Amino acid sequence: MLMDERNLGKHDRLKEEIKRLKEQRRAVILSHYYQRPEIQEVADFVGDSLELSRQAARTDAQVIVFCGVHFMAESAAILSPEKIVLLPEENAGCPMAEMITAVDLERWKSSFPRATVVCYVNTSAEVKAQSDIACTSANVVKVISALSPEENILFVPDKNLGAYIARQTDRKIHVWEGYCPTHDKLTREDILAARQEHPDALVLVHPECRPEVVELADQVASTSGILRFARESAAKKFIIGTETGILYQLSKQCPGKEFYPAAPKMICPNMKATTLEKLHRSLATLEPKITVPPEIREKALKSLERMLAIV
Ligand code: 13P
Ligand code: SF4
Repeated sequence: MLMDERNLGKHDRLKEEIKRLKEQRRAVILSHYYQRPEIQEVADFVGDSLELSRQAARTDAQVIVFCGVHFMAESAAILSPEKIVLLPEENAGCPMAEMITAVDLERWKSSFPRATVVCYVNTSAEVKAQSDIACTSANVVKVISALSPEENILFVPDKNLGAYIARQTDRKIHVWEGYCPTHDKLTREDILAARQEHPDALVLVHPECRPEVVELADQVASTSGILRFARESAAKKFIIGTETGILYQLSKQCPGKEFYPAAPKMICPNMKATTLEKLHRSLATLEPKITVPPEIREKALKSLERMLAIV
C-alpha cells in the first residue's frame, strides 16, 4: 500500500472517531482558515478571527475545541466562561501576540495618560484587559472610525496593520512595533515575481503584510475579505498574500478559479501545529484546557464586547 493511501485510511478513521467523540462530548469544533485542510474538513465552523469570536460567544455546545492559536482559544474562554475551551496543541502561540506584554503596555500607556488603547485581537488576555477596545483585521477600520476624532489612539501590537489603518482613516495613531513573522516575510520582490509569473492574476493581500507590499496589491483584506472578494470578482486568477492555509478554502468556495500563493514560504508553523491526532486526543481527554483568571477575564471581556457591539 502507498504512503498516501495509508495516511488517507488513517485520516478517515480519525475523522470518524472525532465525529463520534464530538457528539458524545457535546462539543463544537472551530477552525481558522489557516489550519490544515483535514482540520478545516472536520470543523463545524471555519472562519476568520472575528467570525470565530462570534461563534464562540453564541454557541450552546458545552465544549469548544479551538483549532487555531492560543489567543483565539483565550478569547473563547473570555466570551464563554461557563464552557470548557480546548486548544488541541497547547504550544500553538502567536509570535505577534507575544511581542507585547501587559507590563510593556502599562509602561507605554503611562506616556499617553488619556489615550484610548485599541488592541488587535492577536494579543493575550492580560493585554486585552489593559485595552479599551479590541479589533480584528475585518473590523479595524469600523472600530477606529467609531472612536471620537479627539481620541489619541495607541494601537497594539502590529505595526503593519497600524500603518494600514493610519492610511485608511487619516487618524493619528501611535503604533507598537510588533509584526506577524509569517506575513512580514512577504517582500515587494516576491509580489513582482508572482505578477511576472501570472500577469493576468489579481493580487490580494492581508493588511498584516508590510506597507510596501500592501501598496502593490489590487485588494487588501482580512481572510474573510479575501474569500469574499475572490467569490464575487469576475477575475479568474488570484495571487494570494496571506498564510497558505486559506488556499484550501479559496479553491473550495470558488470552483473554476485559480489561486497562487504570493510566496510558498507564508506558512505559520503555529497554525499548522494542530493535527487530527491532537484534535482527537483533546476530545478524548478534554485537555489541554484554556482558562483565564476571573479578574483578567472581566476586564478583557469589556474590550471584546465593545468590539462585538460594532456591527
Ligand atoms: P484574520 O483571519 O482575522 O484575517 O486574521 C489573520 C491572522 O493572522 C490570524 O492569526
Ligand atoms: Fe500569529 Fe501570524 Fe500565525 Fe496569525 S499567521 S497566528 S498573526 S504568527
